[in-house]
Amino acid sequence: MNEASVNLEEAGISEGISEVIVTTQSAAGERNAAPIGIITTMNEQEQGEIKYFMKLYKGSRTLANVLETNTLAANVTDDVVLFVKVAFENLSEKYFTDFEGMPVLKEANAWIVFTTVLVEESSEYFRFRLMPKAVEIRRKEVKAINRGRNAVIEAAVLATRFEITKDEQGREEMRKERERYNEIVKKCGGRREKEAMRVLQEKCPFR
Ligand SMILES: Cc1cc2nc3c(=O)[nH]c(=O)nc-3n(C[C@H](O)[C@H](O)[C@H](O)COP(=O)(O)O)c2cc1C
Repeated sequence: MNEASVNLEEAGISEGISEVIVTTQSAAGERNAAPIGIITTMNEQEQGEIKYFMKLYKGSRTLANVLETNTLAANVTDDVVLFVKVAFENLSEKYFTDFEGMPVLKEANAWIVFTTVLVEESSEYFRFRLMPKAVEIRRKEVKAINRGRNAVIEAAVLATRFEITKDEQGREEMRKERERYNEIVKKCGGRREKEAMRVLQEKCPFR
């Protein structure tokens, strides 16, 4: 694969930030999954060259594994229940299969294996450039925008931040924001989105 020119649009990754489930393994072979954003940039000055990046905040299992193996897999899915689960628990083996020597999620619509190159280290995160190594598109789905689905993802991001927020004022604002997402899911979501919010409430009750 000519890494510099790969366009992953067909696999569901487009300009901006695409939320995926990243699967990794440690050098000892322990598997992990977590929701993470792929940052895609397109530079007009460089003949529209497309580049992929990821910021991994310190303390995550994903970061530890990437530092050990320089490899990760992006699983493209819009399964909101899965997003919420992987944000807060270790997935059991039954969810995984193998692709190009990497653990990936059986249910994903596409898999992309990337080699990672460390480009920046700050006090809070490591930023990596991602070089696509292998792609498999398993299913192409046509879906209209659903505000409920989007609200679940916002609520999940908020929940992972709530866990590391210590000041009570910040937490109170987050509770209000969470309530707003709850209302959107009630109004616009289907059964999957409502189930995802139930799981989120159970995993992170915002207390
Ligand atoms: C939709 C979504 C996107 C996220 N994006 C990122 C990200 O880009 N970088 C990051 O470090 N954490 C991100 N997080 C938070 C991690 O998923 C979270 O810290 C997780 O617990 C890490 O799990 P791990 O320790 O198993 O790697 C995101 C969470 C959600 C719900």
